[in-house]
Amino acid sequence: MTMTASPVTAPVPEGARITVCEVGPRDGFQIEKAFIPTERKIEIINALFASGLRAMQVTSFVSPRAVPQLADAEAVLAGIDRPEGAMLTALIPNLRGAERAAACGVDAVHTVVSASETHNRKNVNRSIDASLKDFEAVFALLAGSAIAVEGGIATAFGCPFEGVVPPEQVARIAKRYQDLGATSVGLGDTTGMATPATVRAAVQAIRAEAPGLGIGLHFHNTRGVGLACVMTGLAEGVTHYDASVGGLGGCPFAAGATGNICTEDLVYLLGESGYDTGVDLDRLIEAAKLTQAILGRELPGQVIKSGPRLRRFDPGLTATAAG
Ligand code: COA
Ligand code: ZN
Repeated sequence: MTMTASPVTAPVPEGARITVCEVGPRDGFQIEKAFIPTERKIEIINALFASGLRAMQVTSFVSPRAVPQLADAEAVLAGIDRPEGAMLTALIPNLRGAERAAACGVDAVHTVVSASETHNRKNVNRSIDASLKDFEAVFALLAGSAIAVEGGIATAFGCPFEGVVPPEQVARIAKRYQDLGATSVGLGDTTGMATPATVRAAVQAIRAEAPGLGIGLHFHNTRGVGLACVMTGLAEGVTHYDASVGGLGGCPFAAGATGNICTEDLVYLLGESGYDTGVDLDRLIEAAKLTQAILGRELPGQVIKSGPRLRRFDPGLTATAAG
């Protein structure tokens, strides 16, 4: 008897551990025009780790001409405190990036290819097939090493240049990654085009095409529905989410890109929904305030402004409406 594998979709049970991967030091910093001194980057990363976050995309190893802000990737990795159990990831576009990242002792590299041709050409100056072909060498380089390869798929929920990205296209790339040896893929919502419906469709298409492949979700809050998309991801059984301190972020090579979903807001939502993130929200808010101070402007996150839900205010300091 032959059995066709049917994709299993069960909601993540309450109490489960959710991986919150902090991507501010990569996705957040990369769009900042003024160079953030390396020491300040290190200070922010260390403060984020001190909040209990353990998964972090610390930097990228890309052309310094493409992203001058992250030209100090080696120095950042050499300077940070690495807490026990930390999973340090770096984004890479090609073999050169993988070699640089491996020399710095990252735990994983996150390759990037877009699901739309136009964005892939804008971002990494080659076709989707050429990127995937390049990644054969990346997987070969890291096979048998302790460094994992996460297959990143940008513009997975829509492209600012091409519009709709069919879930089948995302699933096709995910399958290519699985064939290359990836154990997980990360679906990037580069310009905040994801909706609950498109998230469900992409996750289900991957489960059907590449059973067993882990899925991580990376949302931008460009249209205000980033956390709603997380709720859909949880309903679809996904336990890994990227987010950025203060809601920083955006791709310099995608028109209309704005910040990621905000780490404090995500940690707040997950905690209040009964999930375990391992993160201390108060300390995370401190790290976000430090980031705000270093960047010198207000960041888009909400909980950084409001504080946790049960924050108590002094009635004596609040005006009373006199009859
Ligand atoms: N790290 C550092 N330098 C790199 C590099 C890497 N991973 N890959 C290529 N380079 C250098 C080359 O040495 C070359 O330098 P030179 O001109 O001084 O000799 C230059 O970059 C161009 O190399 P080439 O292979 O011809 O690449 P390209 O011009 O076609 O650019 C990428 C391709 C992928 C290197 C570039 O588009 C890139 O870095 N994109 C990343 C975009 C990004 O980070 N987007 C945001 C995150 S999604
Ligand atoms: Zn992003």
